[in-house]
Amino acid sequence: MTTRYLIPLLAGGTLLSAMPAFADNDDIVKRGAYLARAGDCVACHSSPQGKPFAGGLRIESPFGTIYSTNITPDKENGIGSYTEEQFAAALREGKRADGANLYPAMPYPSYANLTDEDVHALYAYFMQGVEPVASQPPKTSLGFPFNQRWGISAWNWLFADAEPFTPQASHDELTERGRYLVEGLGHCGSCHTPRGIAQQEKALGGDSEAYLAGANLNGWWAPSLRAGDGGDGQGIESWDTQAIVDYLETGRNVHATVGGEMTSVIAHSTSYLSERDLMGIAQYLKSLPANPASDDAASTEVREQATDETAAHLTAAKNLSEGERLYVDNCAACHFNAGEGADRVFPQLDGNSLTNAENPAGLIHTILAGARPPATSKIPAQLPMPGFSWRLSDEEIASLATFVRGAWSNDAGPVTAEQVDEVRDALGDTPLSRAPDPNGSLNHEDGDQ
Ligand code: HEC
Ligand code: HEC
Ligand code: HEC
Repeated sequence: MTTRYLIPLLAGGTLLSAMPAFADNDDIVKRGAYLARAGDCVACHSSPQGKPFAGGLRIESPFGTIYSTNITPDKENGIGSYTEEQFAAALREGKRADGANLYPAMPYPSYANLTDEDVHALYAYFMQGVEPVASQPPKTSLGFPFNQRWGISAWNWLFADAEPFTPQASHDELTERGRYLVEGLGHCGSCHTPRGIAQQEKALGGDSEAYLAGANLNGWWAPSLRAGDGGDGQGIESWDTQAIVDYLETGRNVHATVGGEMTSVIAHSTSYLSERDLMGIAQYLKSLPANPASDDAASTEVREQATDETAAHLTAAKNLSEGERLYVDNCAACHFNAGEGADRVFPQLDGNSLTNAENPAGLIHTILAGARPPATSKIPAQLPMPGFSWRLSDEEIASLATFVRGAWSNDAGPVTAEQVDEVRDALGDTPLSRAPDPNGSLNHEDGDQ
């Protein structure tokens, strides 16, 4: 990663007045490329086997299938004839060049906070730094009434009310930089903020306690990112800022290893960000007070005691239940009797967000299919977890998962064989991996600057 110097330390004043002076156009294009990473444009605007930014990714929405568009500078099929003003309106207001509304599958409610300088750099990159691709992705055609794009105006009026970013002078500058990235380009809320009845994110910024409070994402839990004090002390609340930086940079840290759709976010976006920007993000997440724990949440002391008891019981290996025995036989070699794993190699299962998620689908998926963390420039090697679908029955996985969710300090509900069966069905014959193809066209060699 050599991107670090591209966003120099912004000394004093506001972000706008402290914009670094760029020597030449190349620097602006490079800066735009970096911002495109921060916005993860490539993840949505490329199909699995297609060229970067040529569009065609199928995005399932409650209203039907939406295809992303070609945003290469090709004049016929892409955005080659967009003026900078039209490009800005697409990013910040969800308006297409012809004036039609874009579907909010494009995260313009978040991108609305972009500064003019950053829109300018992104525009320079998309016009000069991206290869034009002359191919037309499939057209989106939703059923009535969702094919009426004018209807989105009312939605925008109600829900897309973010304003261009104004840094708050009273706040720490690096934390404000983090807020700008998280609320804006990072569009972290599109997965981590719960949605309301019109599919809108319940909040677009940190002043509401719904913001980043955790949300269900196609059955996988995208945990709360409110990392400040005040909750039950579990999950990201127990991570320090460096642990958050490590996770976003490499997909793993002392506490967890990434899975589900976050794998792609790390592989295509956050692993490219400078450590300074990642630290800003971490500080911002730490500044959001955790939502209060439920009344029956255990104290730290009680949790530590529970962890010791489970570890001692597994080590003594007497009178083990079926779940405990399955854990010792299949899992303990890597995750250990104390559920503490091994730093950056085997994730900790004690206090782990995926393990404790209200919906156990992500945990069941991991046990059935195994998991492979993303390769990033800092940690290219990937030690995968094997899948157990061929080896354990639905009943066995249910008792194993039930044990793991109640073991050590964990305190999540039991799992039934029916729940395991559902995930097994959904997995079908898909390859036993939940990470993007490392040999695909979007690997880490392209575009690293
Ligand atoms: C979460 C997915 C997602 C991300 C991330 C995303 N987009 Fe989009 N974008 C879409 C979809 C879907 C459409 C088409 C929506 C429609 O047809 O109404 C779109 C449309 C657009 C358009 C309008 C193009 C046209 O003429 O149809 C532009 C410009 C655009 N995106 C630029 C960007 C840029 C630049 C980024 C990164 C900063 C980005 N997008 C990130 C999903 C995404
Ligand atoms: C496309 C959806 C999506 C987006 C966008 C997204 N996340 Fe995530 N994130 C997830 C999911 C799903 C998980 C759960 C991963 C797992 O189970 O291993 C997760 C997990 C995490 C975790 C680990 C939390 C824990 O307790 O284990 C952190 C930290 C995180 N995300 C930060 C971010 C940040 C910062 C952003 C914005 C830059 C972001 N995420 C954007 C889906 C997303
Ligand atoms: C050979 C070593 C190995 C064995 C055996 C093993 N795991 Fe894993 N496990 C890993 C590795 C490595 C990862 C990280 C991979 C990833 O998440 O991408 C992991 C990840 C996980 C995660 C995801 C944690 C997170 O933060 O997202 C869970 C849950 C899990 N294992 C549970 C189990 C259970 C339950 C068993 C027994 C059925 C088991 N593992 C057996 C190595 C192992």
